[in-house]
Amino acid sequence: MAGLTGIAYGADYNPEQWDPSVWRKDVELMRHAGVTLLSVGIFSWSMLEPRDSEYQFGWLDEVLGLLADAGIAVNLANATATPPPWLSAAHPEILPMLADGSRLWPGARQAFCPSSPVFRNHALRLTEAIATRYAGHPALAMWHVSNEIGGHNARCYCDVSAVAFRKWLRDRYDSIGVLNAAWGTTFWGQVYSEWDEILPPRQAASYGNPTHALDFYQFSSDECVAEYVAERDVLRKITPNIPVTTNIMPGHATFDYWSWAPELDVVAIDHYLTAARRDAHIGLSMAADTARGLAGGSPWMLMEQSTSAVNWQARNVAKQPGEMMRNSLQHVARGADSVMFFQWRSSQFGAEKYHSAMVPHAGTDTKIWREVVELGDVLGRLEEVAGTTVTADVALLFDWRSGWALDAPSHPSVDVRYADQVDAMYTALWRCGVTVDLVSPRTELSGYRLLVVPSLYIIDRDLSRRIAEFIATGGNAVVTFMSGIVDERLHLYPGPYPGALRDCLGIAVEEFFPLRAGEQVALDNGYRSSVWSELMHLDGATAVASFVDGPVVGTPAITCHRAGEGRSWYIATRLEQESLDRLIKGIVRELKIKPPIPMAAVPSGVEAVRRSGNGRSFLFLINHGDETAHIVAHGNELICDRRLAGLLALRPGACAVVAEEAS
Ligand code: GAL
Repeated sequence: MAGLTGIAYGADYNPEQWDPSVWRKDVELMRHAGVTLLSVGIFSWSMLEPRDSEYQFGWLDEVLGLLADAGIAVNLANATATPPPWLSAAHPEILPMLADGSRLWPGARQAFCPSSPVFRNHALRLTEAIATRYAGHPALAMWHVSNEIGGHNARCYCDVSAVAFRKWLRDRYDSIGVLNAAWGTTFWGQVYSEWDEILPPRQAASYGNPTHALDFYQFSSDECVAEYVAERDVLRKITPNIPVTTNIMPGHATFDYWSWAPELDVVAIDHYLTAARRDAHIGLSMAADTARGLAGGSPWMLMEQSTSAVNWQARNVAKQPGEMMRNSLQHVARGADSVMFFQWRSSQFGAEKYHSAMVPHAGTDTKIWREVVELGDVLGRLEEVAGTTVTADVALLFDWRSGWALDAPSHPSVDVRYADQVDAMYTALWRCGVTVDLVSPRTELSGYRLLVVPSLYIIDRDLSRRIAEFIATGGNAVVTFMSGIVDERLHLYPGPYPGALRDCLGIAVEEFFPLRAGEQVALDNGYRSSVWSELMHLDGATAVASFVDGPVVGTPAITCHRAGEGRSWYIATRLEQESLDRLIKGIVRELKIKPPIPMAAVPSGVEAVRRSGNGRSFLFLINHGDETAHIVAHGNELICDRRLAGLLALRPGACAVVAEEAS
């Protein structure tokens, strides 16, 4: 980031909600907390252009001037996230439409169709005006395009979207005949004769065509990134040396972020804990590892998290003392070169007034503020960590498209949810302490020791061949049910399941036997499972465990196969988490894959990740558990600035960052 060193620290800053007298106080507090970077002006279109083509930049000039004088860098928004009321009043056709044909009204943010040329023209004009005004401004470090693009409006079913969708389809398929074949339109008599007959998959009388829906979801994701690219290109033209990004949401199931990532100068994510989950810190790790995967292993930015509670979950649980520090260091450990929040100061009004911030409603004599100041101090000590990277022996093959397809209606069981399968597998790996890269279906696999493939429903022929080659040449794989069932058009592979992986797994699945809601089955090695079973035959593999009850008693539930130099395991059921943990731990141990510290020697809940580069190596240790961990480490511990004499006692809730020396 232009002009920034170390780990950037800051937040979204919305000064337009406050009197200018507060801005001065804000700047003082920011300096006190060690803030270095702010995202400014994200929702300010109606204040920058209150009427068509009438700009009012005075207030923003003043804010940016104050920040520049204080030495605080700005990630300046192009302010296109909320079109102003005058725009939708003059052009109601820009408003998004739901699948049932109803229009959404203005009144919240993102009230536009991503394919709308009217919206696009106005957004580009505003972007140009902002870029021209602030090019060369001393505070400008980077550009923040829109905000969480598509978060509320990604899939628009209006007539304008229909036209754009047809164009997208024509670019993808050579002819209507190829489209008919790909979509399998002979099923239920849906054969198209003309492109103009094709609509977005609007609400219909029964199940729609799954390939039609998959293409529309990909189109919608592509339209959202096209919005970003169009706005980015205006910024690039005017300020070619200023990096451009937008904040993405790896946990949001709607986007194919693998195809977005190459368009971002730096990958920037927003992450919020799922309060309902007691081990939400594991979900955090997965989001951070996804960000690193999207960044191709390079450092990335944490653009938003919360200091404490949010406002949009069912029960907005506040963070415990120390939790914000742990969350922040988890992100840094996994490759983030910034720690930023939504938002700087809690709003006095509006829909998010109960959302926490760096400056809470109760002011500075508070837990949150003290922790904000402490975090700023700690991040200041980690300057040398910036730019270093994380390496992993284990890859988790992840694809948003498989989620769209697997979670669609009219499948064998509503209890098979893609996110659930991925979470379970990631959790088991996290508990073993091994570092995991989340990789795309196009990532080169050869550097990894172990590839895990949880319910990757869509596997095309190229990926099928590459997985087989990975295993044949010495790689190892763990695959769970409903992986490799269909190709990229959602056509089943012929023959027994799973067609794309049958040979390298040495199995053939004859029939699926999903379980009833709440039903559990037992395996002969003491494991328990639910949701799924299937009738499988061994075709080279050996059974590791078999079902002892349920609908397919006596048949294999877990198998292992030697294929060339490597091995593959297959799990034909949804193991209970404890059983999956045990299985994965055994495989990791057998393959001698080493976590950054020997996990057997520490109590559960300890997270250890290493960042290294430039001849330096930093071991991050975070204790989420409730027992003190004694960890062998050599070097300088940076948070408390102490030399370690070989053994570190890490109290429950505590964190350490060790600048390592060879022992
Ligand atoms: C993010 C969004 C912010 C704010 C925040 C609240 O998704 O980018 O503007 O709404 O959520 O948690």
